[in-house]
Order: sequence, then C-alpha cells, then structure tokens
Amino acid sequence: MCGIFGYLNYNTQVDSSEVVQRLLTGLRRLEYRGYDSAGVAFDTTRHEDDDEDLVVVVKECGNIDRLSARVERTMRERGEEIDFKAVKQTGHCAIAHTRWATHGVPSEVNSHPQLARSQGSGLVEWCVVHNGIITNYRPLKDFLSSRGLLFESDTDTEVIPKLCKYVWDGYDDAQRGEVNFREVVSQVVGELEGAFALLFKSTHFPGELVGCKRGSPLLLGIRQRGGGDDDGASPGAAEVHEGNGVCLSPRGGVGAGGRDHSEHHGGGACEFYFSSDASAIVEHTKRVVVMEDGDVVHVSGGGYSVYAAPQQRQHGLGGAPFGAHHKISRQLETLEIGVEQIMKGGYDHFMQKEIHEQPSALVETMRGRIALEVEDCSEGDGSECTLERQGSLKLLDSLDLLKEDGGGAEPLWRGATPRVKLGGLEPHAENILRSRRLIFVACGTSYHACLAARQVVEELTRVPVALELASDLLDRQAPLYRDDTCFFVSQSGETADTLNALQYAKRRGSLCVGITNTVGSSISRETACGVHVNAGVEIGVASTKAYTCQILVIVMIALKLSEDSISKGKRRNEIMRDLLRLPSMMRRVLREEGVIKNLARELAQETSLLAFGRGYNYATALELALKVKELSYMHSEGILAGELKHGPLALIDETMPAVVVATNDALREKMWSTIQQLLARKGRLVLLVSKGDDDILNYFNGEENDGRARIITVDTVCDCLQPILNIVPFQLLSYHLTVLRGFNVDQPRNLAKSVTVE
Ligand code: AGP
Ligand code: GLU
Repeated sequence: MCGIFGYLNYNTQVDSSEVVQRLLTGLRRLEYRGYDSAGVAFDTTRHEDDDEDLVVVVKECGNIDRLSARVERTMRERGEEIDFKAVKQTGHCAIAHTRWATHGVPSEVNSHPQLARSQGSGLVEWCVVHNGIITNYRPLKDFLSSRGLLFESDTDTEVIPKLCKYVWDGYDDAQRGEVNFREVVSQVVGELEGAFALLFKSTHFPGELVGCKRGSPLLLGIRQRGGGDDDGASPGAAEVHEGNGVCLSPRGGVGAGGRDHSEHHGGGACEFYFSSDASAIVEHTKRVVVMEDGDVVHVSGGGYSVYAAPQQRQHGLGGAPFGAHHKISRQLETLEIGVEQIMKGGYDHFMQKEIHEQPSALVETMRGRIALEVEDCSEGDGSECTLERQGSLKLLDSLDLLKEDGGGAEPLWRGATPRVKLGGLEPHAENILRSRRLIFVACGTSYHACLAARQVVEELTRVPVALELASDLLDRQAPLYRDDTCFFVSQSGETADTLNALQYAKRRGSLCVGITNTVGSSISRETACGVHVNAGVEIGVASTKAYTCQILVIVMIALKLSEDSISKGKRRNEIMRDLLRLPSMMRRVLREEGVIKNLARELAQETSLLAFGRGYNYATALELALKVKELSYMHSEGILAGELKHGPLALIDETMPAVVVATNDALREKMWSTIQQLLARKGRLVLLVSKGDDDILNYFNGEENDGRARIITVDTVCDCLQPILNIVPFQLLSYHLTVLRGFNVDQPRNLAKSVTVE
C-alpha cells in the first residue's frame, strides 16, 4: 500500500531543491500504488548558519501535484530564512511518503513523515515514514504519553518516532557516544507488532538513513557515480560488495555502526535510494538489495550494511524478533525491468497501455516455456514418430510466438510433441500430482484468474481443485493438510491477505507454490517453488495484463502436470496449439477498440450494469463487474448465469443493461437460454459472441430483433483459453466508461495497487 522513497548522496554535489525534485519524482513513480496524502523531509541550512542541518518537513493532503505546489510555496515563504539551494557534498538525507490512511483520516498532520521534536525548540529530531500497520500502537501510545510525550496525530505510526526519542533521551552522554543509528532503530522496532516498512532519519545521525521491513516491501538501490557505470544501469565492477558495500572501496571494512564507515570509504561517489518498489529506482540504478523480513539496512559514509533478525518470520506478520540483529551479506541484484516499463509510452493512461501490451505480455509469459520435441524422423514422413524415440527440444522463441497468423501454424507442429517447461515447478511436479487437493488462494482479480483456470486444472490433473479468497480462508481458519498443495496467486506478490494465508498454509505443512508477477516479492520468496508470470510491470491499479497472463500460467501449469497422461494427450495438444494463436487473436480483439468506445458512450450515464457468464466465463463476468465498479464507480455485479432464475432475474427490465458472455463452448446452448430469458423480460442486452456464430448473429440481425442487443464478437479459441480473449473488450469498456465519466483511470479512489494491510 502507498509508498516510501528515500535518498542519500555521497561525494556528489547536490543541492536541497534538486533533492526535493528527486523525492517528488520518486513519489510520482509510486503514485500508482494508491494514496491519499503525501509528505517529504529533507536537509537544508539557514542562510546565517550554513553549518548546521535544518530539517524541512512538508506534508499535504491529496496528490503529488498538490504536495509539489506546497513545497514551492514553502520555499517562497521561507526563502529569506532558509537556503533551499544549500549544497551538500555528502550525506544529504531525504525521505518521502505516500500515505494510504489506516489510522486517522487523510490530513496534513496525519501524513508522513511522522515526527518527534525537541521539547524546547520544537526542532525536528526524528522523522519516520511507514507503510503498514502497527497493531500494538495503543499500549505504546499510552505508555509514551504517560512519560510526557505529546502526540499530534491520530496515526499508529507516530509511536515510532516518539519511541526513538524516548529511547535516545534515556541514554546518558557516554551511551550516546557509543550507540549507532541502527542500534537505536533495532531497539525501537523490537517493540513493534504488525506489518511495516520503515525509513528513519534523525538529526542525531546526520548523513545516515536506516530502513527496515517486516511484511511490507522495501528495496535499497545503489548508484555508483563516476565509476564507469554512471548511467546507473549496468552492474559495473564489484565496487559495492554484497550485503555491506562501500563505494569504490573494495577493501574498505564496514564497522558495526554507521559512523565509522566514513573512515573506510575510498573517495568514490555514489547515491542510495530506498523505495517500496523498483519503479522508483530503475531510472537511477539497476543495482538493488531486496530487503527481506527482519532486515535492517543502515546507510552512511558511502556504505551500507544489512542486519538480519536471528530467525526469519515464522509466525505471521507479527512474529519476527528484531532485538538481536546480526550482520549479514545480502546479494546485490540487478533489476530486470527497463525504464520504458514505468512510462506511459504513447498512451493516455497506464491502464490503456497495459491493456494494449497484452499480446506481447502473453508472448513474454510463454517465452522459453513452450518447446517442441522434434522426433528424429529421418525415416518416413514423421507421422510414425513416437515419443520413445530420442528427439531434440526446440524452444519456441518470440518470433514463432508472434507470427501474425498465430504461431500455431501447422508446419511448426508436424511431427513434434509440444511440451511446457516450467523450471521452478518441475522438481515438485510429482508431489503436486500426489496431493489430496490443489488449493488456489488469491484476492480480487487474481482470484478471478484462478476461477477462470480451475476447470482445466481439474480436467487435466484429475486432482480436486478448491478456490479460496485469502481473507476468507483465514477467517474460517480452514483445514489445510500436509498433503494439500496451495498455489498463492498475486500480481504484486505482496498482498497481506494472501501472504498471511501463505504463512498459515506453511504452518500446516502444505506444499506452497507462488504465482506472482513481481520477482523478489514476499510471496515468491516465501513459497517452496513457483512460476513467475512475466507480464511486465503493471502500474494501473486495475489489473489487466497480469490477469490474462495469470490465467495463461495456470493453464500451462495444468499442461505441465498432465504431460505424462496419455489419455489427455489429444486435449493437451489442442490447448498447446491454441496457446500459440492467442497473441495474434488478442491483437484482433484490440483492433475493435472503436466499437467498444461507442458502446461505452451508450452506457456512460447508467447507474448499474449486470454481467452473466458460466463455466469458464463465470470468471469473465465477475472480472468485468470488478473492473467496472473499481474504475467507473458504476454499480456492477457479475452473476453466474445458472443462478439467474434464483433471484437476479427480478432486476431485469428494459432499462437495466445486462452483458452476457455467450462465446462458443459446451455451455453455449445454456447461455442461449439465458439470452432468451433476458429477452423475455425486455432486457437491454450486450452480448459477447464468437465470430461466425451465425445462429445468434442472424437472430439479432433479423428484422424482428434488430437493435435488441449490442453485439461484440471475438475469435474462437480453445474453451479454457477463451476467458483470456473474452475479458479484453470489457477491460476496454471499463477503461472508456471511466474516461467518459471523468474519473481517474490509474488511481481509482480509495484503492491501492498493492494491498499490504489486512
Ligand atoms: C484488480 O483490478 C484489483 N485492483 C485488485 O482486486 C487486485 O487484483 C487484488 O488486490 C489482488 O492483488 P494482487 O494480485 O497483487 O495480490
Ligand atoms: N498506518 C499508517 C497510517 O495510517 C501508515 C499507512 C500507510 O501504509 O500509508 O498513517
């Protein structure tokens, strides 16, 4: 939820106003995560005293443009007193935050950074930005209040800077000379329960930042300047050591505390960036430390050190002890995303871009995972090839997959056996197949992806498949067993409910598999194995390309798990052939955007929209309704068509728009009955049907029924893949409805991209 951004320079000339611009840009990159207010804290000096740091804190309700305007106003109003151009060669520490309120309304005082000030002067001493929830803030607040600390905000977060002050004020001078910033922070977070990513700044430790996390994500980016990788994009030489680097000083030791770092640096220049996710870091550097739960990262003197809790989280979000941290080495990783992925390209909104990226996202999801086993068919015409004969494996590349006619063109397939390769899953395939149940756990759109793919997993594996909304699984404390396999499906890989369900399943001994779209995410790290969705960065709060690619991944998992089943061979080949046709078919759906936009114009003023589907496309109806409501704020309900006569039919009259997903599959006849029942009540229909379904098309084109339904057509693909195409017109519909109704497409009100609170 919301975001954290931090910046610290070492041996590079930066002035305060430049730092503020970096903070604001960082926050803009995190905007997509959803927020209601924002704030920054940065160093500068007074004109008459350029030796002493002064911390300026600016906070504002609403969006980053408002915060930016507020910063400018502050600079204008206080420009005589404060030097906003103060240059700092080293140790300019700045922290920033977008808040998604959990405790206390969105307001300036509740925005972060939350502070602790000196009692007399009122000067800022401790600044903290926080993502997550501190569940034991009440007793802490009572305790700190009883010790005379005055609280300003209603947030749970404020106990953290106040605790820092309490701990610091409790030291005598000798102790203050000994203790370092990281130790103060470790002591403070040892008192906290709940979920958090935190970034600390203090006037007692100028030039240092400390970040830590438990449950919410946080990365540290390191940019070496003037060291051959000044573009920040290449890994460069090994100047920054794993886990505890010092800029340009391979041999420089890093002391236990931050202060002694400065003695060891080699005079190189570098910058450090903290962020909740890679999108705010990638334009500065690709080298990152992905922090794990329990980690405390201390940056100072051109170096950083990572400390870890003695044991990793074992008892859910509340359990990791922070007290006795020990220094560890965390691998420096290279971000795989490109800067272009965080830009809108030629599109008006990220969501529109992401909808249109789907053909290539599908290709990326399949790339390197679909192989043709080409038999040695030197004798004969190839038709006699058998699996027993040793063959060679040809991995299909993007070109094969992107062929305009659909990569599934027959020549590719003749005499070859298609195979799915999912490296992460392969060692566990047998165990998974031996499970008593396969349980898919997810929230929101990711849950719909599981629903869309459930049937084919059941059909191909013959293992019972259950679906669980993560929060409901936890609420019920549902029984899970050692012989269950649980799949945790999440775009962000950070959704608190799903993550908590994962901890719950681990404690019960189930095999846990992750399906996420974010490399290095908590879910991908905490599961025994998994599959990366590979749809590319998704920034729009409404999930689009991650949804279609998640369905694709689950179908591929079903294909992988069933590859030894001879009885399923024909069905598998049919699905595999159509997999390769999907990208080009998806492109054809997207070309119909004009038709959908016209439909959106007709529906823009409605207050409600119903959607009916069944079988594979019940998920399509649910996902359509979720997209429409979360973006356009129009009431919308996805209904299983089989339930129509058990209640929803009462809603139907000539004013109520009803979307019916009636593409060609085994349930098409039943959907035709649904259409008839709706027509009989004078329903206002929007139909999604297969191209060439002349029965339906002729019926509605005939004189008698002309104009009784708006019709959208899509190509027919193998039934289990059809939901991947079918949702696209409705993604476009919700997008255009939202634009026409004048709402914020990429950041719908009250929602966050990554829901890291329960
Ligand atoms: C999708 O449009 C929604 N914003 C939301 O339902 C989302 O899918 C849900 O919060 C789960 O997120 P995850 O996939 O990152 O776990
Ligand atoms: N719980 C904190 C608050 O309400 C932090 C919310 C967030 O994650 O932004 O201020």
